[in-house]
Formats: sequence, C-alpha cells, structure tokens
Amino acid sequence: MEIHINSPIAVIGAGTMGAGIAQVAATAGHMVTVIDRDEAALAQGRSVVATVLASSVAKGRLDDRARSDIEARIRWSTDPSQVAHACLVVEAIVERLDAKHHLLGAIERVVGRDALIASNTSSLGIGDIAAVLTRPERFLGLHFFNPVPSMKLVEIVAGPATGPMAVDAVSALMRIWGKRPVVVREVPGFIVNRVARPYYAEGFAALGEGIAPAAIDAALTGAAGFRMGPLALGDMIGHDVNFAVATSVYEAYRGKTRFRPQESQRSLVEAGRFGRKTRHGVYDYNQPLPVPDCLRGGSAPASITVSQIDLLAPLVADARSHGITVVEDSRLGPDALSVDGSLMALGDGRPLASRCDIDVLIDHARDFSSATHCVISARSAEHADRATGFLRALGREALQVPDRPGQIVLRTLAQLANAAADAVRDEVATASGIDEAMIFGANHPEGPLGWAGRIGDDRVRASLSNIAAASGDPIYAPSPMFGVP
Ligand code: NAI
Repeated sequence: MEIHINSPIAVIGAGTMGAGIAQVAATAGHMVTVIDRDEAALAQGRSVVATVLASSVAKGRLDDRARSDIEARIRWSTDPSQVAHACLVVEAIVERLDAKHHLLGAIERVVGRDALIASNTSSLGIGDIAAVLTRPERFLGLHFFNPVPSMKLVEIVAGPATGPMAVDAVSALMRIWGKRPVVVREVPGFIVNRVARPYYAEGFAALGEGIAPAAIDAALTGAAGFRMGPLALGDMIGHDVNFAVATSVYEAYRGKTRFRPQESQRSLVEAGRFGRKTRHGVYDYNQPLPVPDCLRGGSAPASITVSQIDLLAPLVADARSHGITVVEDSRLGPDALSVDGSLMALGDGRPLASRCDIDVLIDHARDFSSATHCVISARSAEHADRATGFLRALGREALQVPDRPGQIVLRTLAQLANAAADAVRDEVATASGIDEAMIFGANHPEGPLGWAGRIGDDRVRASLSNIAAASGDPIYAPSPMFGVP
C-alpha cells in the first residue's frame, strides 16, 4: 500500500493540531479536506493557516504563488461525508474516547475499503479507540507535535491490531511530508511524553530543594546545551498541562516510580501559577526575569595540575591555550585537577560530603568544549573562588549549587538516559528511534542514549547507583540496560 502526494487526505478537527496537519499535507501537494462540526473553528483554522503561510512568505521561505496554491488545496467543511474519497483520514478532535468512538465509527462507514484512519491522540489507547472499528488493522496513531509545521517528529503508534502495511505506508508518507517518523509501541506517553519526564522532574526537584530557578535553567542551557531550561519550558507549556501529563503518565505506570510528579510543580498549579499564560509560573512575567547568580571571585591561576583527564579534556586544552601551565601528576584521581591547592574533580553521583579527598565537585556538561557555564559545589568560599578564577579565565561562568547527589546536570542527563533505557527494555521503540524522538520531538540537543554511549554505560550506571545510594531514592536505580557491575 502506498499513499502518493496526489492522494486526497482528510483531517477532522480544525483546531491547533488539525489546522497544522492540514497545512503540512497541503504543502506536500495533497488535496486536503478539513472537517469540523463548528463553523467558527473552521474559520479560525483557515485564518491560522493563512497567517502562518503569510509569515513564511514574509520571511522569504515561500513565494506568493506557492502560498495561494497551498491555501487553494485545502477545503473547509462541516460535512463529514466529504471525507469519502480520502486515502488517509487523520482525526484531531477533542481528547475524549466517547467522542472519538462516535466519530470514527461513522467515518469508517463513509470511507473506501483501503483508506487508512489515524488518530492524533496523545493519551488514549490506540487499541481502545479501535474497539469500534470493523477493520482495526487499518487504524493507527499518528502523533504530531505542536506546532505541527515546525516540529519534525511524528510518533507512529501501532496498536495491538494495527497492520504492518498501515505502519509502513504512513511512515513513508511522513517522510514525503518532511517529517521524522518513529514507530512506537502503544504505551502511555509513547516515547516523548514518557522519556522527557525526568527533564521536568529533576528541575522541579532542585527547585523544591530551594535552588534558584535561574541557576537551574542556566545549568541545563549553559552546561547541558538544552534550548530552554526545564522551569522556563514548563512556564511556556503551562504547568496545568505539564503536571497533568506527569500525573497521567505516573498513574498509567503504576509501580514505576521513575515518573513521579513533583510537589513543587503541584503547588504552582494549585496556586493558579500556570506559567506564561497566567503571567506567573516559576517566573513572574510582570517583573524583569532573574539572571543566574554566577560567581565572580577568584583570579586566573598561573598553573594547574592534572591527571587521567577524560571528559574534562576540553577545559585542560583551553587552559593551555589561555597560557595556563598544565603540569601532569599521576597521583591525582581520574578527571581531577588541582588549582592553587584546591582539588577539583568531575562528579560521579556521590555528594561532596562523602568525598573527603575533594574540595570542589565539578558537575558534568554535555560537552565541556561548548559549555558556557560550569556548575560547581565547593567545600568553602575560598575553594569556590579558586574554581571560579580558573573557569572565568577560560571564558566559562561558574554556577554554584548546594552539595547534592549528582548535582544538576549529571543527575538530569543520567535520569533521562535511565528513562530512555527503560523504554528500550520495554520495547517501546528502538534505541535510535528513542534518541531521534527526543531530538526531533522535544528539541533535546542529543539523544539520551547517545549521550550515555558517549560517556560510557558503566559511568552512567555507577553515577545512578551513587545517586540512588546517597539520596535513598529508588527512582535513580540504574536500568538493567546499563548492565550489571
Ligand atoms: P483543539 O481543541 O484545538 O481542536 C479540536 C477541534 O475538534 C475543535 O475545533 C472542535 O470543534 C473539533 N471537534 C470536536 N469534536 C468534533 C467532532 N465530533 N467532529 C468534528 N470536529 C470536532 O484540540 P487540539 O489541541 O488540536 O487537539 C486535538 C487532538 O490532538 C487531541 O486528541 C489532542 O490530544 C491531540 N494533540 C494535541 C497536542 C497539542 O499540543 N494541542 C499535541 C499532540 C496531540
């Protein structure tokens, strides 16, 4: 089975997602029929598509002729019988099982025998929706991300009865539409809404411990390379929506406590602080936004002593290029350096309190060569000053966090990798599919398993074990996918 660009497509629901899906399909060249029961929603959908396309023309990405051709290929109607000739019907109506049942039962009676039917549901079971269909093998989940025209990922969700031909045909079509399809087994949250949970959970855990929100967000952007910190991102998504997803995924995986929602986010929701839409979430959007309180003390060292440098190698190379003398001393531990008598080492999940040999713990960065910020925990202000002097001499900002297992960056990246490894073990998708989903569906700078492979599964497992032991919290127990010690 193949769907060509001259095959007609139908989209049901002209809201946020339906309008975007229609625009993408029409841009690929299909004739598209959009059905909504509400005239005003159709008018709104049409106007959203017109506005987005006009902005592409203004930016020079589309010419005026192409814009009018795309608009002319979309028909807007309240009459569901208009879907009769569609080769693919994509349902994007309200997220209610009864509504989807009622609609799809009627659609199946109207469309041709070979037409495929898909749902954009983000939380309902594909098998549950398919219960009303007489031919469930042609039904599947087609989970687009918002905004549809710019988000590349589409999760192709195979329910228990979905036929492989439907999965293959729709995957091929999504590539023609310029999307990155990833096939997912039907599980709550699919890939992205499941594997991304620790990103928010770790941000809110740190917030709940009293760490400044601007420092948390700067650690994840400046050191870990994410486009937005977890708290600013939560403010953008809306904590009402984000906390509801966290809760529903947690409840759906009874017993899998890795997905536990965070109390500090619940408090925001209860206080009506939903984020940007209420002008107050983690941040107060009626005030200037806080800037992270980076350390300022210390001076550049003339020399540093290092040994067994691995992940910290870019900092040592930068030290050399900034004229700092680098002395090798094999007595220092792995990824450790001594600056004016202060011993600093890369974190391995253990808190500073349990490392009497170290004065400063350096948190991980996704890549120390591109990190603009480094996170440290120091035994005293004097040691913090020496670390700051060293880091600032290399052009890096120093952020200090209280001593906690795994600090912020290592804990977040390791826990994301843990969630991704669990998803591989549960056969939700392949490892490469999960990484691709996190990059193209959640804008992560790197797949969590790609990161784990790069720094070493043994190191990830050891870090998680150390965090679990020091925090006493089983959510950090390493996934068996990282092997046994
Ligand atoms: P929306 O509320 O913006 O639009 C839904 C549209 O469906 C409305 O215009 C409504 O009039 C129409 N509608 C409702 N029942 C209908 C029926 N029986 N027949 C015809 N039209 C009907 O909703 P949104 O956000 O576009 O979500 C649609 C679906 O996509 C839901 O299943 C949602 O879970 C899913 N989704 C939403 C995402 C988002 O970020 N908004 C992301 C991914 C999936």
